[in-house]
Amino acid sequence: MDIETLKDTLLQRVRESKTPNEVLKAPEFRELYAKIPTLTPEERGMFGRNVNELKQAVERAIQTREAELEESSVRPIDVTAPFDVNAKRPTLLPSENGTTHPLMQEIQLVSDIFNRMGFVTEDSREIDDQYHMFETLNFPKGHPARDDYDTFMTVETDNDGDPLIAPAHTSTMQNRTLVKYRDNLMRGEAIAAIVPDRVFRNEDLDARHEHTFYQVEGIYVAKGVNVGNLVATLQAFLEEYYGRALKTRINPFYFPFTEPSFEFSLECPFCEDGCNICSQSKWIELLGCGMIHPNVLKAAGIDTNEYTGFAFGCGIDRLVMMKYGIEDIRHLESGKLNFLRQF
Ligand code: FA5
Repeated sequence: MDIETLKDTLLQRVRESKTPNEVLKAPEFRELYAKIPTLTPEERGMFGRNVNELKQAVERAIQTREAELEESSVRPIDVTAPFDVNAKRPTLLPSENGTTHPLMQEIQLVSDIFNRMGFVTEDSREIDDQYHMFETLNFPKGHPARDDYDTFMTVETDNDGDPLIAPAHTSTMQNRTLVKYRDNLMRGEAIAAIVPDRVFRNEDLDARHEHTFYQVEGIYVAKGVNVGNLVATLQAFLEEYYGRALKTRINPFYFPFTEPSFEFSLECPFCEDGCNICSQSKWIELLGCGMIHPNVLKAAGIDTNEYTGFAFGCGIDRLVMMKYGIEDIRHLESGKLNFLRQF
């Protein structure tokens, strides 16, 4: 397509768009820029000028279209209620087109990858009882590992008289998910689900620790599932997500609800010799995982002589930080527009 025809097409697109600014990101522009290095120095000058003029024409059309949209979005207000004209009015921020929060974009991507691997996506919840947060996960009452979870509790209590909790991990959904999909096993199918959602911890904040963050839980149960399947699934997911081969490290760990349990870390992308973000360790811990403890399967009514499974819980904020080189997790929930507009 020559530049004149392309100009007509792009201007038409601007005139019809509700988000005209997006036209500047059109693939056609990228194609034009990509062409520049292939031209001779003589051709380059003329071509460059034409591309610039095209861009300026599109920018002018965007301004006109934005003004038009702004005008059409102003509606006369019919105020029939009593109204104090002297009251101080709030100063509104200028209206601009919003975008999806980077964490939501990435959660969608994570979900898409797992869906393609055959996992269904489930939601978690923002308040739960201690039965799901602890008991079904093999932390009986008084278990010392309950203290490892710095939870926020409500004054309201559950049926046992225990305070309700803002879940500190998406594992709070393990029992419900296992029960919901238990019949898959009878049909010879696996239970394969992920739960990406928000979790809360009352903890000291730093570049890697937030009080409110996202995790994705993964649950897989079938006949003959082993640690090899767990590691291969996680490696396949991470390499698909980051789009390249990765250096990962697996350490033994302890969770009451998995046996054996592991921690999966990725090589720190911010340094070579250790930095504040990785606490000088050169690795960033990304997720906890392991083979689902038989008591967790039994609590969901699954026959542990027949079936085994794995589970993992991955910090989505950390996953995203490492993808985009975000040096401080607190940017993500800060609401800073300068930060958010980069995505
Ligand atoms: C858990 O929460 C376990 N439920 C994970 C699990 C699931 C293990 C299923 C076995 C089977 P942990 O507390 O380590 O584990 O947290 C998991 C991940 O959440 C961490 O690796 C990290 O990526 C992220 N994470 C933990 N705390 C924070 C925090 N304060 N801020 C941001 N991310 C965090």
